[in-house]
Amino acid sequence: MKILIVNGPNLNLLGVREPGIYGKSSFESYLPKLQARYPETEISYYQSNVEGELINRLQHDGFSVDGIVLNAGAYTHTSIALYDCIRSIKAPVVEVHISNVHQREAFRHHSMISAACKGVIAGFGLDSYRLAIEALIHANSHEGE
Ligand code: DQA
Repeated sequence: MKILIVNGPNLNLLGVREPGIYGKSSFESYLPKLQARYPETEISYYQSNVEGELINRLQHDGFSVDGIVLNAGAYTHTSIALYDCIRSIKAPVVEVHISNVHQREAFRHHSMISAACKGVIAGFGLDSYRLAIEALIHANSHEGE
């Protein structure tokens, strides 16, 4: 099974950015642990701060991978273009947030992309990504039931 993880704006600063909210670990140091945990699954990773580049990558891989884990960062709350893109591709997308966005500022309570996603996981720190991968693997193995 092939899974693509996509991180949006400012998530390249994980470990440095607001560690009280997002933790002290960079995504680059977390990713190999995640990959080692799922040796049967090919997990690739892409990060961009640019909305159009995120869309380009989702369009490029969205017809060949089996699932996508997407933390769109602040674009979650603003991007109709990402919503349209998720609806346009074949791979199921799981929306992920490190923090529990519903415990935070009101502008983070609404997601533009949730309705296009298979599901949403928020609030478990970096473990949110693992939970999303678990969900995609489970859904893939029960496909057609
Ligand atoms: C985030 C939550 C968003 O509101 C925020 O803009 C981010 C990160 C999270 O992972 O908790 O950049 O998606």
